[in-house]
Amino acid sequence: MNLVDKTKNTFVVTTPLYYVNDVPHIGSAYTTIAADVVARFQRLLGNRVLMITGTDEHGQKIQRTAASSGKEPQQFCDEIVPSFVNLWQLLNIQYDRFSRTTAVNHQAIVKEFFQRVWDNGDIYQGQQQGWYCVSCEEFKEERELLEGKRCPIHTTKEVEWRDEQNYFFRLSKYQTRLEEFYQSRPDFIQPASRRNEVLNFVNQGLQDFSISRVNLDWGFPVPVDPKHTLYVWFDALLGYVTALLEPDSEPSLTNALATWWPINLHLIGKDILRFHAVYWPAMLMSANLPLPDRVFGHGFLTKDGQKMGKTLGNTLDPFDLVQRYSSDAVRYYFLKEIEFGKDGDFNENRFINVLNADLANDLGNLLNRTLNMVKKYCAGNVPSVASAAIPTDHPLKAKGQALGEQVKQAYTVLAFNEACLAVLSLVQASNKFIDEQAPWSLYKQGKQEEVEVVLYSVLETVRLAAYLLSPIIPNLSSNIYQQLGWNINFDDHRDSETVAPFHLHATWGVLSSEQKLGTPQPIFKRIETLKND
Ligand code: MSP
Repeated sequence: MNLVDKTKNTFVVTTPLYYVNDVPHIGSAYTTIAADVVARFQRLLGNRVLMITGTDEHGQKIQRTAASSGKEPQQFCDEIVPSFVNLWQLLNIQYDRFSRTTAVNHQAIVKEFFQRVWDNGDIYQGQQQGWYCVSCEEFKEERELLEGKRCPIHTTKEVEWRDEQNYFFRLSKYQTRLEEFYQSRPDFIQPASRRNEVLNFVNQGLQDFSISRVNLDWGFPVPVDPKHTLYVWFDALLGYVTALLEPDSEPSLTNALATWWPINLHLIGKDILRFHAVYWPAMLMSANLPLPDRVFGHGFLTKDGQKMGKTLGNTLDPFDLVQRYSSDAVRYYFLKEIEFGKDGDFNENRFINVLNADLANDLGNLLNRTLNMVKKYCAGNVPSVASAAIPTDHPLKAKGQALGEQVKQAYTVLAFNEACLAVLSLVQASNKFIDEQAPWSLYKQGKQEEVEVVLYSVLETVRLAAYLLSPIIPNLSSNIYQQLGWNINFDDHRDSETVAPFHLHATWGVLSSEQKLGTPQPIFKRIETLKND
């Protein structure tokens, strides 16, 4: 059954399908939070959105990890997957599809896709020799390796020498077509630094890559030669396609691609850029399918300058962080403090300071003290000020009117930190404005009309800020909206486009005296700074 409203634009965003060699860490959470924010933003715009996440469960890395804990790989995966589902729930991630590469319908999709590529003459048998990093599930060039034959990404792991018969994918055949594609679609790889990386890599000349393994049985058999097992990445990338199937439809490529293909945005970390920006488009070209619109490679979360990861064991526990500080706090911090695309270090003191300054002070206090003043000076009602009557050069109105477009632009190019900074700057301007206007003394002087204009414009600004930040801090935004008298829950965003569409809420002057204000309550409790600071 096709449930999609064809009158609307569709938007599909994916996270990587995470390896299940361990429970998720903050690096996995980072991409997933960003994808959820994009999905929420696209929904506010009124688009039909599909957010895909899931798990990558085959291959040597998973097989070995399962074996070392004395479990069958499938059982091992089944035990780890719930930790991803739970973390996404805790972080308020509202995905639409969870794609597991061990799902039965996935094998049918992989088989059909393989056949297309095979029929196109792009798969052949050859001898593979090279250094393999099991943690990356990738062959490495000797020149990339660190001293002691260690992987540059998993710096404690030595690569392993392989010399075996494999099936190869004819990547070299797509050299020119890929180059032309990157030229004609300059936005395909983002940010620009990552695009350059890919162009440099492709310029050096593409080599065919092996897509099967021997001596490994945890994976799908190669359809034309079951003694071989399909390379985990060949199967994993196709997990995005399987995810598009309606739950009750026959697993065929035609069904999978009918409604949502091509994918609009693959969000990934920079370490898996080559797979998404080179191998994946070439595989799709070979299968004669349209290519995705955009691949965005973000940076790494680091600790003391090293990539946080399961292999190095220097991760931050996202469960603990969310439980101690709330999901909105975690979502806000990582998106506001790190430019998406760059690496960013985590420091708990900084984390606390940012949340206290932005959410507890600038935004939270502003709402609270303004609502309390409205209670005192306006009998608890939204001042009946016609926003149209406020002059356009009013400092908050002037800034507020331009903000919606500015923030929309920032979300569109995934500059989440800029979206936050733009909103925050209006919030800070409002704090300054209220201090300068001093409504308490205007009230004493009997200037009721002026008091009302000041309080109205500050409340309206807080509303606009809450709206524009709602993809990032849905709980806090709902709380603010509710205190301002709306019965809108951004938390469940599946129908947010109907209850609070962007074109109606992202402008300044929406608050009206019809609104029945709620009881003022602090939205974000100040966090105690750490003792060891
Ligand atoms: N299974 C593959 C992806 C297949 S997609 C068809 C994989 N999985 S992973 O679990 O190792 O990594 C998933 C994502 O998490 C990658 O995008 C990776 O960049 C990201 N991160 C892992 N550690 C990270 C940080 N320390 N910081 C930010 N993101 C990082 O690769």
